[in-house]
Amino acid sequence: MSEKPWAGRFNLPTDKFVEEFNASIYFDKRLYKFDIKGSIAHATMLSRQGILEESEARAIVAGLEQVLEEIENGQFEFNIADEDIHMAVEKRLTEIVGPVGGKLHTARSRNDQVAVDVRMYIMYEAETVKAYLINLAKVIVDKAVNNLGVIMPGFTHLQTGQPILFSHYLMAYFQMFKRDFQRFNDMMIRANYCPLGAGALAGTTFPIDRNFTASQLNFYGPTENSIDSVSDRDFVIEFLSAASITMMHLSRFSEEIILFSNQDVNFISLTDDYCTGSSIMPQKKNPDIPELIRGKTGRVYGSLVTMLTIMKGLPLAYNKDMQEDKEPLFDAVDTILASLKVFAPMIEKMQVLENNTKNSASKGYSTATDLADYLVRKGVPFRQAHHIVGKTVAYAIEQDKKLDELSLDEMQMFSKLISDDVFNYITLEASVNSRNSYGGTSAESVMTQIKLAKSFIDENI
Ligand code: ARG
Repeated sequence: MSEKPWAGRFNLPTDKFVEEFNASIYFDKRLYKFDIKGSIAHATMLSRQGILEESEARAIVAGLEQVLEEIENGQFEFNIADEDIHMAVEKRLTEIVGPVGGKLHTARSRNDQVAVDVRMYIMYEAETVKAYLINLAKVIVDKAVNNLGVIMPGFTHLQTGQPILFSHYLMAYFQMFKRDFQRFNDMMIRANYCPLGAGALAGTTFPIDRNFTASQLNFYGPTENSIDSVSDRDFVIEFLSAASITMMHLSRFSEEIILFSNQDVNFISLTDDYCTGSSIMPQKKNPDIPELIRGKTGRVYGSLVTMLTIMKGLPLAYNKDMQEDKEPLFDAVDTILASLKVFAPMIEKMQVLENNTKNSASKGYSTATDLADYLVRKGVPFRQAHHIVGKTVAYAIEQDKKLDELSLDEMQMFSKLISDDVFNYITLEASVNSRNSYGGTSAESVMTQIKLAKSFIDENI
């Protein structure tokens, strides 16, 4: 068994299972690129500060580049005995460049090293999530533009409320994904500080230049407190929190896709390439993809709760508990990216069944509010108008008629103020287009939303 770099004070080799239990290499190897990048910046800084000879730093950097190459070519052998990615890289470096490789860890600890690696990883993945979010936002806006005339029922309590444009409904999701994008931006603003140089917890005796290292790695600057630098995982929690909220939005959207593709609702149809069948019922075309996304939401919430629980009550500074941050984080990254990746084209391709949405909107007295507003414009106080229309609807239900199927005489039984112009107000189209308030469902208002959405996308693509 190879001797551990920390084994100086030990009299017994590590127990085999302890070694396995303690190791993180089989998952933290995912950080290799950031680990090597961080080490190159560190070595460069050490030589600039005269802490390493220039030739030593050159050898170390070349060695690190070779390690990177070996990993990327699949030649690198990951070994449980190396414990984690940091020690594995350093060990290989030393094999390549000799004892000078041991100088890389001057003025550094694995505690600040892992913190910088995870920060770089999160900055990178948050950027990827943002790109996926913008892509989805674009799909939604295009879909809204292409379906601008489609009317559907808008629901509250999952009961028909008022008719709305399908595009207006879609643009509600645009707003959610826009906020998600901004949330990832916000968390990146706080994550973007470099903990490298904090050492184990108290700083270092060497004359390092943390500003230089930070700028080499594209951080805004160094973190301000060495104790906090090695014990903080807020950036993981904030990432997982933003990811959880995004998944919650995807899950709500998914739920509606599932509901809307039910035979009795039948508002939309997913394309065959985004559905699966049943092994027993030949007629089935199941919306497995939105169902899976709805389910995977639980997984990402799980990661967030895992992380909050790991950090709860941890004394300062670094504790090994924090090694448990990586698997939930990696799993959440994989889950949110896969979900966004599959969701966007599914929405892009889905077919909107315009006749069905409109037919559904025409049921359920969705223009009753329009009739009440009509009476209000004739001087009736809204509460009274509400009551009159309630009676009218009850009568229509009894007669098994839609609101606009009542004759003028029938309507006038409830208010003499109703005249034959009422029929200009209680059609679906009139109802939708009269809701012209800012943010409302009229085609004009939705176009305003779309215009703003397009400029948001253009600014952030
Ligand atoms: N594998 C460790 C982690 O992921 C790296 C830091 C270990 N530091 C230590 N002092 N044991 O947190």
